[in-house]
Amino acid sequence: MPAISCSAPGKVILCGEHAVVYQQPAIALPVFEGSTKCSIVAKPTAPHDETIIVAPNIALKCYLKCLVEKHPIQVAINLVLQKLNIDHLPVCEIRIQSTLPTAAGLGSSASTSVALIRALSTFLGHPFTDDEVNQLAFEIEKIHHGTPSGIDNTVITYAKALFYLKGQPSEFLLPGKQVTLVIADTGIKGSTSKAVSDVRQGFQENKEVFSALFNQIGQLVESAKKSFINGDLISLGKSLSENHQLLQNLGVSCNQLDTLVEEALSKGALGAKLSGGGQGGNMIALVNSDQAEPMASALLFKGAVNTLITHIPAKGQ
Ligand code: PMV
Repeated sequence: MPAISCSAPGKVILCGEHAVVYQQPAIALPVFEGSTKCSIVAKPTAPHDETIIVAPNIALKCYLKCLVEKHPIQVAINLVLQKLNIDHLPVCEIRIQSTLPTAAGLGSSASTSVALIRALSTFLGHPFTDDEVNQLAFEIEKIHHGTPSGIDNTVITYAKALFYLKGQPSEFLLPGKQVTLVIADTGIKGSTSKAVSDVRQGFQENKEVFSALFNQIGQLVESAKKSFINGDLISLGKSLSENHQLLQNLGVSCNQLDTLVEEALSKGALGAKLSGGGQGGNMIALVNSDQAEPMASALLFKGAVNTLITHIPAKGQ
């Protein structure tokens, strides 16, 4: 069997996170500046006749059989085998390498699942379609995050800008003008499942207030969608900044995120907000493309531990 390699990008949520879990729409964008690569090579003469998993980013190097039963990598492999009606994985080495930070809102877990599911189904001679990959990656997201909306696995599988509403077919979006984002990492690990469960607790304690916040976010996302498609970056930026305030009200921001958002706005960003689960992780600043480098430097100076610049090309570019 030949060696197989498959990659998957990272992602940011442009707007609508958290509310998307409560039947509101959200927009997500693929980020190709960070990605995960999964390579699989057959090792029929491996010592002990055992499959090895190597994933340096999560400090993992072990025999497959040593992973705990519910480990997401173990579950992903079992789901692929089940779907293909194969009861024994040929002995191989599975190597997963990612340039995405973990627990940072950039979709590292979904990116790993998508790259692994694609590589394994191809290695076994039956490459899955995007729909099949997406379906299995969603099952793994449930292990990572409990009650995910499905937006991460979907944007990463299809690698296109996406207007997402749980349970509806995804709508792919092309911006009317190039969209440039500076993504800045607070360096604080943010647990998505904790943030989602904190919001759920808030919702259960105060249904009226939280439902109103979710509705307001949903309306902002609808308006952001129009601005994105029409290339009205000024109006898009305003929606992003307003979305950040609503996320603050949901209780998922933190001082470091707020500091970077304020810094971005004071340095001329068109809009800025936290992105993803929050309580740490990354923020995004919407900028004109010539502002991107100085903005990244300003955010690093203000305490970001890393920055990425990403562009979504305009329709027809
Ligand atoms: O995985 P993250 O941290 O990028 O955030 C996921 C977005 C949430 O809306 C908070 C949760 C979800 O499942 O949609």
